[in-house]
This record gives sequence, structure tokens and C-alpha cells, in this order.
Amino acid sequence: MYKHLYDEFYKIFGKSNENIRIFKSPGRVNLIGEHIDYNGGHVLPAALSMYTTVLVRKRNDNIIRLYATDLKYVVQAELDRLLLYKDYKWGNYQLGIAYQLMTEGFSVPGCDMLFEDKVPLGSGLSSSAAIEVATSLALNRLGGYDTGMKELAIISQMAEHNYVGVKCGIMDQFTSAMGKEGHAVLLDCRDLSYEYIPLKTAGYKLVIANTNKKRSLGESAYNQRRYECENALLLMKEAFPDAKYLCDITIDGLMSNINLIKDPVIRNRAIHVVSENDRVLKSADALKNGNLESFGEMMVKSHESLRDLYEVSCNELDVLMEAAMLQKGVIGSRMTGAGFGGCTVSLVKETTIDSFMDEVGSMYKEKTGYEASFYVSDIGGGGTEVF
Ligand code: GLA
Repeated sequence: MYKHLYDEFYKIFGKSNENIRIFKSPGRVNLIGEHIDYNGGHVLPAALSMYTTVLVRKRNDNIIRLYATDLKYVVQAELDRLLLYKDYKWGNYQLGIAYQLMTEGFSVPGCDMLFEDKVPLGSGLSSSAAIEVATSLALNRLGGYDTGMKELAIISQMAEHNYVGVKCGIMDQFTSAMGKEGHAVLLDCRDLSYEYIPLKTAGYKLVIANTNKKRSLGESAYNQRRYECENALLLMKEAFPDAKYLCDITIDGLMSNINLIKDPVIRNRAIHVVSENDRVLKSADALKNGNLESFGEMMVKSHESLRDLYEVSCNELDVLMEAAMLQKGVIGSRMTGAGFGGCTVSLVKETTIDSFMDEVGSMYKEKTGYEASFYVSDIGGGGTEVF
């Protein structure tokens, strides 16, 4: 299964006496709970069975070389000058991990790394978290450590903050590190306590539809939303001085003090955050009780709120979601991930999946000119060493 990767590794980096070790880490789909991880909310993502796989082998110097099977070029960096490479278009996530590990006192050995990325890039399915977690796991184990997966998730998030410059929440890295086959993860982002919820969707499947409109998290819009939420929290502190996060406030609490927020945009952001958190908890209950209809309703409300109040949807995502909801056998659909492009996720009756893809695909093409792609998602496990 990995022979083609070994072959490519030897072709690029040559042979040596050192062993090659293999690690992998998945992308994720978020079922519900969008843009609330950085507001201390609950999220309900699941790891996909699409992975970043990395082959890694120690070197005798302080050089790290990175190669991607789809890009076909090598990035080379010196471990004691890592700050020089921050602006690299590819390789910066991996070098950010090396930088963060070293900042936290881990020693990182020189090594050669080959990456095979099976999570579509820029699709809102956390291709970057898959790379980050696979890299932090590989470099950590190669350095002789046995750091826990939860801690590696946090190190990966910090690398993205400090090196790449995106102030992301913890959801993606946590799911990539801690996902469990056949389960969604109900994660409380306040304290990282979590619960695995079996995805018992008998007769229905989660179908991901990709707008194929690339989005980039580096876009200032993500950091801007985060800033708006911090602003909303500051204003609400007048009524709730102990609130550490926006999600510490209930819907009733927020609505009865909403006059503290004068700016209608900031107001809408806060209403989205607090009501989305509530929808996540209701969705988790609905899934536990096998009440798919109610989960489906929450998905639709979540999409509407992200579109109208949080303003992170876009025409392509709206068209996909609306086309999905017109199909027979669909009980819920919403955008997933940061937004501004990327993917939707829909709960679709198994027997209607083929017609779903045909119909939604052609409606989407007609209205946007883009070709959508579809994945029927299997829920995989979190990051691990393969060999
Ligand atoms: C990106 C971030 C996550 C989260 C989502 C939106 O995927 O990396 O932390 O904020 O956007 O829910």
C-alpha cells in the first residue's frame, strides 16, 4: 500500500542506513458548530478517512527537507534559521511545526520528509490541520518523545498562530489528532473536554459537496471575525463581568442585554455565536437519540445564521445548500469549515445519493459555472504512526 511512496522517497532523497517511519493524520468535516471554537463554544466535527501521509527519515545534520508528491518540488530549511521561511507558500505549515516544537523545548532532528496529501487543499476540510498534526507527530516521535495527541494538537494550533499568522481555533487540529472511527467528537473548546458520539445515521450518509472555489484562511476576514467577537465580549462584560468567552453567555442573557452592543454587525456576530453553541448541544442530543430530523433542522439553521448573521457564506455555498435542500431524501445541509468557499455537508438518504449528486451538480453548474465534486464521507480515526 505504501510501496509507491517508498519508491518516490528513495528517488528524491536517496538511500541511507536510517529507517523510514510513516505517520498519517486526517482532514475533518464539521457537522455543526461553526466559528465558535475560538469563542469557547462546543463543536461537533468528525475526522475523515482522507489523510496526509508523511514518510520521515533522520539526517545527520540540522537540515530539514520537505517534498510533496503532488507538487513535485523540494523545500530545504536549516533548523536554526526557521524564521527565514515564514513566507513560503508550501512548506510553511511544516516548518512552523518544527519552529513551535523547538520553541517549546523539544529538540527536532534534521530529517527528510515526503508528504502525500489526500485532503483536497483549500476546501474547508482542514488540509492544513492534517499536515500540521502529521508533521508534529512525526517530528515529535523522531525526536524520541511520546507527547500526547491532545498536546500535539495544541502545539499545531500554536504553530498556525505564531508562524503562519492565522489565529485559528482548536477544532481542526484537535479532530485531526483525536478523531475516532465512526464517531463525531463533541468538543468543549473552553477546556478541551470531549465526548465521542457514535454517528448512527442508519439509512443516511453524510455527503460533502465541494464548491471547488478555493478559499484561503490567511484572508483577513477570519481574523476580522475573531476580533469582532472579542469586541462583542468586551461590551457584554458590563452585564457579565465573569464571562471569559462569548459562549459563557446564554441566549436569554445575550438578548436581554443586547443594547450594550450598538453596532448591528457586532450584534449579529454575537447572536450567531451564542445561538450556534445552543444548536450544537441540541444536535448532539438529537444524534444520541437517533433523531435525525431534528439534527437536519439544526444544520439548516446553522447555515442561515452563518450566511445572514456571521456573513461567511458565499453564493457558491448558498447555491449548493439550497439545491441540496430541494432534493428528495435530504434532511439537512449546511456549509462546513471557515466559509468563503470550500464545502457543504448534507445528510442524504443512502438510496438517493446518486440522484442527489447528479441533480445538485447540474443545478450548481448552471447557476455558478463551477463543477462541484462530491465525497460520501467515511468517518476515520485520528493521527497515528502507520509503520
Ligand atoms: C477554520 C479554523 C477553525 C474554526 C473554523 C470555523 O477551520 O481553523 O478553528 O474556527 O474555521 O468553525
